[in-house]
Formats: sequence, C-alpha cells, structure tokens
Amino acid sequence: MTTAASTSNSFFDSLESAPPDSILGLNESFKNDPNPDKINLTVGVYQDESGVTPIFECIKLAEKQLVDTESSKSYLPINGSPEFGLAVQKLLFGTDDQGTDHEIVRSKRAVTAQSPGGTGALRIAGDFLQKKFPNSRVWLSAPTWANHPAIFAAAGLETKNYSYLNSDKTGLDFDAMKASLDETRPGDVLLLHGCCHNPTGVDLSADQWQELAAIIRQRQLLPLIDCAYQGFNAGIEEDAVGISTLCNAGLEVMICSSFSKNLGLYGERVGAMTLVADSEKSAKAALSHIKSCIRVNYSNPPKHGAALATAVLSDDGLRDVWFKELAGVRARIKQVRSQFVQEMNRRCESDFSFIENQNGMFSFSGLTPLQVDQLRNEYSIYIVGVGRINVAGINSNNIERLCDCIAKVMA
Ligand code: LMR
Repeated sequence: MTTAASTSNSFFDSLESAPPDSILGLNESFKNDPNPDKINLTVGVYQDESGVTPIFECIKLAEKQLVDTESSKSYLPINGSPEFGLAVQKLLFGTDDQGTDHEIVRSKRAVTAQSPGGTGALRIAGDFLQKKFPNSRVWLSAPTWANHPAIFAAAGLETKNYSYLNSDKTGLDFDAMKASLDETRPGDVLLLHGCCHNPTGVDLSADQWQELAAIIRQRQLLPLIDCAYQGFNAGIEEDAVGISTLCNAGLEVMICSSFSKNLGLYGERVGAMTLVADSEKSAKAALSHIKSCIRVNYSNPPKHGAALATAVLSDDGLRDVWFKELAGVRARIKQVRSQFVQEMNRRCESDFSFIENQNGMFSFSGLTPLQVDQLRNEYSIYIVGVGRINVAGINSNNIERLCDCIAKVMA
C-alpha cells in the first residue's frame, strides 16, 4: 500500500522552509540558546530591572473587576466594543482645557475598529486602502519596523521609502525626508510613527510635525500614523503631539494604535484602527468598508483584553494607577539609556551620547550587521539585524557584560 506522501498527490513535500521572522525568529533562537549568560535585546517587549515583563497592577485590578461584572462571552460586533472604541478615541485625541472631549470625538467624524494588536490594525488599514484606493502607494521611513513592508505587500499595496536618518544614523535628516516626499503622488499614503520611532527611537519635533502637516495637505497625501508606544516617551498626551498636530490642521488621518506596550497586554492582542474623516457621514461609509475587510479576515475581534483596556481607560482610579506605572516605565528606560551611554563611553572612543536623545524602547546602536552576528554567535547577545537594541532588556546584571562585548566587536 502506498502512503499519501509517496504519491504524486503530495502537496507539501516540495516546500522549502520560509526564512525566520527578523524579530520574532531571533526571539525563538534566544529561547533555544543554552548559554546562561545570554542577553535578549530583540523583540519590543518591556522588561523590568529583574528581566521580567510584568503584568501592570491596573490590569490585575481590572481583571478582578471583570470576573464579577462580565456576563457573557458572546461575539463582539465586527468592529469590536463601542465602549473600547470611544475610550481609544479619547486617549488619542485628548480633551480641551475644560476637560471636554475633542471636537473629533464630539462630531463623531472618527470611527474605530478594535483589532488584534497593532499589527492587526495595520493589516486592516492595508486591506481597506487596497480595496478602496488600490493605486495608492504606502511611503515608509527608511528604516522602518521590519514588518511594515510585508504587511502592506500582503494587502496588495505598493510600498516606497522616504529618507529619515542622517548620514551617521544618530538623528533625523528632516531636509532629506522632505526632499523624498517630493516624489509622492496625490492620493499616496504616508506612514508616520506617532512617537518612539521603531527601530531608531528618532522622532519628529513638534515644529517638524507642523511643517509636515502643510506638506501633507499640499501634496494631497493620506497620513497613516502607527502609534504603538503612546506613553513610552514623555506621557500619553505629550506622545500624541503628531496626531493632534495633523488632526488640528484639519487633515483626514488613519491611526493604528496598540495596547501591547503601554498596558503590557502583548499576548491579549489589543489594538485599534481609527479613521478620522471630514464628516460623520464619510466616517460611517468608511467604517462599512472596514467592517467588510474584517469580516472576511477574522470576523470579529477578541474580547477579553479590550475589556481590560476599556476598564482601565474609563475608571479614574485605575487610570491613576496606570499613569503612575507608565511613569515608572519611562523613568527606567531613561535611566538605562544614561547608564548604557556612560558604560560605553568608558570603553570606546566613539561617543554614544546620541542614545540619550532617542525615545522609547528602541535605539539604533550603530552596530553593523556583521557586529550584530558576532555578538549573537560568540557572546549569545541577541540584537535585531539592523542594530536595533531594546534598551528595556538591559539591567544591572547584564550591562557590564553587554558593554564589554559591544566594545570588543567594535574594536
Ligand atoms: C517589535 O518591533 O519588536 C515589536 O513591535 C514586536 C513585533 O511584533 O515585531
């Protein structure tokens, strides 16, 4: 008797393995590395001083509340929980001086689709854009998050790159960025990182966002803001400066946000795709198309994590706990950056102080792909290939060894 695999009916025999993911694949290799001194600076997951990715206290409290109050595990609507959507909009757009919701929220010209994480939000955006604006090209910073090009390619959209970093890769070259935008066509999509640029930690200043708003209007572009780290640089409101600048300039905007990092809800997959239109009517029409993209993909989003986020965002007490915890995260990241700079400057001739000017969890270290490979192969130190370091993976137990090894490969 012949087995299925030996007949010409075998579908999978000829498959070659796909290359591992450039971020999550490294994380898997790290887990399999037997070296007890291994150091993981790969995936963008916050770690505390003891190397643990903690569950936020506000989430623990919300979980307890939810056990008593949740009455059903039935499906959510296709675009998720309306309470969650409203809470997301209030977080992104903030309130005016009197504490009143932003005009965008009051006029209902924003719609939100709850998504499985920030990646899910980006894919919803890609599917919607491909469906309704198939000729739009998506402009990505060079460099950008490694998954961006693949997400938009999978949605069937063409991607282009705009310049971002200066020649020594330590800061922004805004003139070069603006010059690249001269190549855009009306109707193209401009992907911007709301804050804590991934992978560089190099952000636009408030003035540069203003200038960009004028360029976006003049060149008739659609801004798509990836906002995965709100609260990780200066604060929830402060980190939304890009969003508020573009929105207050009267532009239509799409925003992909995530609670993976700022509420530590990584595995719960809690994100949102928010679209701001000129009117409530156009926002509603856009939502109907967004919903049809979601229905054929995962039907409707997961419930639990979004319920936790909603509980924290809509309860003053839980919000206070959250804000304090986020402040602690920011303080630790800034402290680690300073320590890293001090330790490196003691060991190397090159000046590492630019690392203190970068925002959020990631730094562009300046390490070459060869040096990154050497660190992994010889010292079990795992860094993403482009030289991106997750600074939250550095702690007092590993900083000496890390800096010694980096100094060695740079010598
Ligand atoms: C990262 O950039 O490491 C994170 O956003 C996690 C991921 O999915 O890549």
